[in-house]
Amino acid sequence: MSEKLTLSVIKADVGGFVGHSAIHPDLIDTARMALEEARQKGWLIDFHVTACGDDLQLIMTHSRGVDDVEIHHLAWQVFERCTAIARKLKLYGAGQDLLTDAFSGNVRGMGPGVAEMELHERESEPVIIFMADKTSAGAWNLPLFRMFADPFNTAGLVISPSMHEGFRFEVHDVKQHKRIFFDTPAEMYDLLVFIGASGRYVIKAVYTRDGEIGAVSSTQRLALIAGKYVGKDDPVCIVRSQGKFPAVGEVLEPFTMPHIVEGWMRGSHYGPLMPVPVRQATPSRFDGPPRVAALGFQLANGGLIGPRDLFDDPGFDEVRRQVNVLADQLRRHGAFEPHRLPMDEMEYTTLPQVMEKLAERWEALPDETVTV
Ligand code: F6R
Ligand code: MG
Ligand code: MG
Repeated sequence: MSEKLTLSVIKADVGGFVGHSAIHPDLIDTARMALEEARQKGWLIDFHVTACGDDLQLIMTHSRGVDDVEIHHLAWQVFERCTAIARKLKLYGAGQDLLTDAFSGNVRGMGPGVAEMELHERESEPVIIFMADKTSAGAWNLPLFRMFADPFNTAGLVISPSMHEGFRFEVHDVKQHKRIFFDTPAEMYDLLVFIGASGRYVIKAVYTRDGEIGAVSSTQRLALIAGKYVGKDDPVCIVRSQGKFPAVGEVLEPFTMPHIVEGWMRGSHYGPLMPVPVRQATPSRFDGPPRVAALGFQLANGGLIGPRDLFDDPGFDEVRRQVNVLADQLRRHGAFEPHRLPMDEMEYTTLPQVMEKLAERWEALPDETVTV
C-alpha cells in the first residue's frame, strides 16, 4: 500500500441508450451501488460515477497505487454487472468495450480506458477530470499543450514564479509502443513535431520540472488493441490545478476554441470538439459532434468534494455556437475529405471490409496511360 493518494478514472462503453448517444440511468445506479459496496469494504476512499455519451465513468480515490490489480478488477466487475443490465434492457452494443471474457490482472489492453495518478494531496488540491465521447486519445494533445506550454493560453507560465520553469511532457507512440520526454519551453518545437500528429503520438502525462505529476491521460486505442474497429477510444484525462499547476481557468481555456478532432460518426470523420455540461454530453447529431465534459473536484483526504460541472457556464456558449457552424460546414462535405478521415486512418474502421469486397474489380490500366 502506498502512502500517497491514487486518483483512478476507469471508463468503458458497456451499452448505449439510445444507440451510441447516451447511457441508461440503470447502469449509473448499478455502478454506484457496486462502488458503494467497495467503499464500505474499505477498498475505496471515495468515488463518483458519471457518464459522457455512451461511456460509463468510474472516478475513484484509494491508496493502492496505479495499475493496482484489485482496483482494476473492481472496475472490470462493475462493467460486467452493468453489461448484464445492458443485456437485459437490450441496450445498444452491450459489453462493447470488454474485449476479452476474463479479467487478467489489469484492464489496460482489455478495452476500458484508464487514467490514473498517484499524488501527495496538497493543502488544497483542485483536480479536473475531462471525459470525451466520439473521439480518440489524441484529442487531449492540443489542450494539454495549451495548458502547460502555451503562454498565450496560460498566463502563469509568464507571470507566476511557480510555473515559470515550464513543464515536462511524456509522449507515447501508440503504434510502436515507445515513449519520449520533452522539456518545455526549451524543446517546445521538438514536442510539436510529434504531438501535431495526434493519431499516433499522444501526450500521456505532464510533470513539473521536479517530477511532480500534473496531468495524465488515457492512451488506449481500441482498434489497435482489437485489430478491428470496435468504437472510438473516448478518452479521459486528469489535470491538477492551481499553485504550481495552471489555474482552473487556464486549464479550461483551450476548450474555447472549436478544435477539430477525429471520431464523430463511425469513428471515421473529423469534427469540432464541443465542451458541454454532463447533461449535454449526449452526442446525437450525426452521432456527434464529439463532446468533452469537465468535472472539478476538491480532494479532501481522498474525499471527492464536488463535482462542479465546469463547462456549465455561459462563457462556453460562443464556442458551442462556433462548433455548430463548423459542424455544418464539415457535414456538407459528406463522404469527402477533409470531413472523412484519410485512407490510412480509415484502416481502423469498417471500411477495409468494403474495400476487400471490391478488390477484384480493380483492373490494371492500359500500358499507354500515364500514371503518377
Ligand atoms: C462512433 C460511434 C457511432 C457508431 C455508429 C454505428 O464512435 O460509436 O458513430 O459507429 O452509430 O454503430 P454500429 O456499427 O454499432 O451500428
Ligand atoms: Mg457505444
Ligand atoms: Mg463512447
